[in-house]
Amino acid sequence: MTPTETLPKVALSSGGRMLIGSDWREAQSGKRFKTLNPATGDTLLEVAEGDAPDVDLAVQAARRAFEGPWGKMSASERGRLLWKLGDLINAKASELAQLETLDTGKPIWESSKIDIPLTVDVFYYFAGAATKLEGDTIPVSGPYLNYTVREPLGVVGLIVPWNFPLLLAARKVAPALAAGNTVILKPAEETPLTALRLGELALEAGIPPGVLNVVPGFGPTAGGALVAHAGVSGVAFTGETTTGRLIMQNAARSLKKVSLELGGKSPNIVFADADQEAAARGTVFGIFYNKGEVCTAGSRLFVERGVHDSMLEKVIDRAQKYPQGDPLDPKTRLGAQTSEAQIEKISRYVEIGKKEGAKLVLGGEPARVGNGRGYFWKPTIFDQVTNTMTIAREEIFGPVLSVISFDDFDRALEEANDSFYGLSAAVWTRDIKNAHRAARMLQAGTVWINTYNMYDAASPYGGYKGSGFGRESGMTGLDFYTQTKSVWVDLS
Ligand code: NAI
Ligand code: MG
Repeated sequence: MTPTETLPKVALSSGGRMLIGSDWREAQSGKRFKTLNPATGDTLLEVAEGDAPDVDLAVQAARRAFEGPWGKMSASERGRLLWKLGDLINAKASELAQLETLDTGKPIWESSKIDIPLTVDVFYYFAGAATKLEGDTIPVSGPYLNYTVREPLGVVGLIVPWNFPLLLAARKVAPALAAGNTVILKPAEETPLTALRLGELALEAGIPPGVLNVVPGFGPTAGGALVAHAGVSGVAFTGETTTGRLIMQNAARSLKKVSLELGGKSPNIVFADADQEAAARGTVFGIFYNKGEVCTAGSRLFVERGVHDSMLEKVIDRAQKYPQGDPLDPKTRLGAQTSEAQIEKISRYVEIGKKEGAKLVLGGEPARVGNGRGYFWKPTIFDQVTNTMTIAREEIFGPVLSVISFDDFDRALEEANDSFYGLSAAVWTRDIKNAHRAARMLQAGTVWINTYNMYDAASPYGGYKGSGFGRESGMTGLDFYTQTKSVWVDLS
């Protein structure tokens, strides 16, 4: 029996309804939409489909909570409730990991070892941060006392994608609540389940109703209504660059603050003096982690020409051994792409790669796993790519690696920076000077040296250039969710 067959049907006590205040409601339109298991193509659950009238109710509930219990609560008490929510997520870790894997197709190894533990950590981190949001006393001229207070924005809209549904929700919900805001969370239409479960757990933790509202639905409707609503003071978004641009335009009408975490085309640069085994391991994890559906995916591998052949051989060898299969199997490292649209997108880019003259050296086609109806793609590697080819410029968001050779340091850095995006970058070298020179020169919000895809609730994360602006995690992650008030007192 496969692990899939032993699993109970998805059961949420809220039954797929949306969370507004303390109520689990159907959409006012009565509509529901299906969320699928991408590993089998089967429906997991039908979920209430939110739209403008539901968003409006959620904003009212959030406003009442902001002006009521949440606004009156001490920072310490808010922190304790966030800590309690972290505890509850931790207690339900294996159930949440299964739910996340069923909805996204990501390996259970990742959900249980990375997504859920990091989510818990995010809640613990921001629980502690609530009481550390301090203002300043400013040495102004004249007989005045001037001090600053960091206040919440009010009601904030949080729009998240489907690649790390719970973790990316946590990275927005936790700092927003720590700073005293109330929120409406709009999960991606592909993956609404763990967000709804988070809503259940928040109420169970004793977070007052209306502080966290969860309205599932589609982008242009539920998401669009949240961005347009005059009662929403800010929108934090993670997703596609074109969507981010649209959100910024729409938010301009009501002059909302926006934070955008967008796409990437991250360079992973391997110098000849690097530890080759470590670099190969990091490269494979960098591109095939979460099936390449990662905004920081190391999709452009720059290799110094002298070690190109040996590195490519090592990377191909490791990629071939990367176990692809049922996402619920603990041995699986490469799961199913989250939607059929992703398979179509990957296959389109593979064709473009071939047409533009890149050399396909591994994969390049769908993989057959289980019942054959899931969205699996083989680990794919293109060699002899140039940085001007489409597959080196556009975000594919799948397990597709482009290998580019280089001859010298400056040229490699120049090409690495020659991208619309600037989310992350990595360098592999034993030369400490070159490592830090590269870190200084790379136009990216995160630079990894001799490692890849490292995250921590305490470390800031966000993009340069076309990858967006705003930072999540760390104390910097609170900036977006606060506004500074300057208070003057006449002492004369
Ligand atoms: P998307 O950016 O359209 O969706 C992300 C979220 O935004 C979802 O919750 C969606 O409902 C919402 N949304 C969509 N349109 C909206 C609108 N007009 N107003 C408000 N909210 C809206 O991404 P999508 O279509 O799911 O994926 C397409 C491509 O985007 C992927 O192939 C990938 O390349 C990229 N992507 C990048 C991500 C990243 O973290 N860098 C995450 C997700 C997608
Ligand atoms: Mg979309």
